[in-house]
Amino acid sequence: MKIVAMVGSNRKESYNMKLVQFMQNRYAGKVDIEILPIDQLPMYNEDDELNPPEVVKEIRAKIMASDGILFATPEYNGSISGMLKNAIDWFSRVEKVMVKKPAMIVGASMGALGTVKAQLHLRQILNAPGVATLTLPGNEVFVGSVHEKIDAQGNLTDEPTVQFIDSVVTNFVSWTESFKVTADVK
Ligand code: FNR
Repeated sequence: MKIVAMVGSNRKESYNMKLVQFMQNRYAGKVDIEILPIDQLPMYNEDDELNPPEVVKEIRAKIMASDGILFATPEYNGSISGMLKNAIDWFSRVEKVMVKKPAMIVGASMGALGTVKAQLHLRQILNAPGVATLTLPGNEVFVGSVHEKIDAQGNLTDEPTVQFIDSVVTNFVSWTESFKVTADVK
């Protein structure tokens, strides 16, 4: 299964990026996770959407070819980052490649609530008509106090968190597979 990931932080030592890289390694073989370079996107401008920069076309094609999308969101002032919103805005227009794609959300922060507010906003945004992902219900991955759960090598060391993410990924894979079966039958 091919999954593309949008990580909402462009910080070098981003915990959300480390979390997705950990998932990339841990689930290799079961899920192929490709991290999209959304930090390379220019600021969305409606004037450019019919003739977008090359990077928009490249990422758009990768989303189109994927079986689903993994969103990893930091929490910025109680919401998602501008960078993640910018990416969602680009791909919600013209070809609308996120529509009906299965989506899974994770988020990490140093606070106790682990991006709860950001994820609530993200679910609302993903419900907009131009986005309209099929977002995995329940299965909410909030990694709070993340600085105590990831070691210097980027390994997620908190065993209950790892086991929980294992179960969510298993749910996401079988849920996403069920859409493929339905599509084949039709
Ligand atoms: C934050 N941070 C933050 N944390 C939180 O739990 N709730 C919040 O509302 C905010 N707001 C916020 C705003 C801005 C502008 C910044 C830069 C940071 C802290 C944030 O969660 C922390 O920096 C994370 O480590 C960011 O994720 P990455 O970069 O580690 O993936």
